[in-house]
Amino acid sequence: MERTERPIRVGILTAGGDCAGLNAVIAAAVKYGTTLGYEFIGFRRGYEGVLSPTDTLELTPDTVRGISHLGGTILHSTNHGRFGAKKGEGEVARIPDEVLQEAKSNLESLGIDWLIVIGGDGSLSGALQLSEIGVNVVGVPKTIDNDLAATDQTFGFSTALSVAVDAMDRVHTTATSHDRVLFVEVMGRNTGWIALKAGLAGGASAILVPEFPFHIEDLVEFLRERKHQPTTSAIVMVAEGAIVEGGRVSDGVIAGGETHYGGVSNQLVRMIEAMAPGEFEMRATILGHMQRGGTPNARDRNLARAYGVAAIDAILENQARTMVSLRDNDILLVPLDEAVSKLKTVGPDTLEYRTARKLGVFIHA
Ligand code: F6P
Repeated sequence: MERTERPIRVGILTAGGDCAGLNAVIAAAVKYGTTLGYEFIGFRRGYEGVLSPTDTLELTPDTVRGISHLGGTILHSTNHGRFGAKKGEGEVARIPDEVLQEAKSNLESLGIDWLIVIGGDGSLSGALQLSEIGVNVVGVPKTIDNDLAATDQTFGFSTALSVAVDAMDRVHTTATSHDRVLFVEVMGRNTGWIALKAGLAGGASAILVPEFPFHIEDLVEFLRERKHQPTTSAIVMVAEGAIVEGGRVSDGVIAGGETHYGGVSNQLVRMIEAMAPGEFEMRATILGHMQRGGTPNARDRNLARAYGVAAIDAILENQARTMVSLRDNDILLVPLDEAVSKLKTVGPDTLEYRTARKLGVFIHA
């Protein structure tokens, strides 16, 4: 984008599902960028705020003071709208050209020289399409799912993990008291990072992730065997996108034009009850959006801050069409194209997967 001699103006938006740490990125970028003489405009509700009529908020060190420890996003977010660039599992949808052009022209009218997009896979795909028509974009990777291959960690993941482990610890005691099989369901529609890491940390007997389809008969047999052990109770950690041989546990519920998978644990309870009537006393706990809300933990706060600062450094170094990325505890820039091209999935080589297998956790039929 052409610019005349005036302070560099940076737009910031948060798009897609929220997570803990979004405000810390915004605050760090604004605080650091202001020391370099940059000006900041926030766009409300993700890309919707960039489209007409634009919805903006001036961001200054004063307006971002005291927000880094708060969950959610002061800019609000949406995973719907005219800028939808992903239709689930790796499928990229082209954003209509007139929508992209409208965004570009609104950014130009507001004198925006750079746009920082804080988002996951889908939102960063939108950012890539904007950069292809000449908008200077820097991406910041967020999602509780931690499924972007181009970074070691997205912020929001660590906090979600803490919530899930805390829930496991609580559920454990009541499962033991009642000799029950308790399902704990976490998010992860395509990948099972939260389920695997929280399941291992929390001592789950079984961990069901989308990457490893399982036979329901094998799970029933596994639970039967546990009944002969001193501890008869069991915790089954299940990712919402878990797959039984032949298909997802749940086809999901279509709401607002999107498929939501939450509730698979109840479905599993029904399936097991149908196969083994009265054999197990089962209950399901669905953590849902608890994992996305609330205060970011120290790890996410510091990662988010480092990302915010790195996004400004990318602008300083004129590195458009990039994403900030964590690699070996350092922050690098990767091409945005690379950032959205590959999902990071749980595999047979994943340390926690191998550890769980050796500890006798049911994870793969
Ligand atoms: O993409 C992050 C995620 O947490 C997924 O794991 C989950 O399926 C989805 O968000 C739910 O999003 P929402 O309920 O906000 O549409």
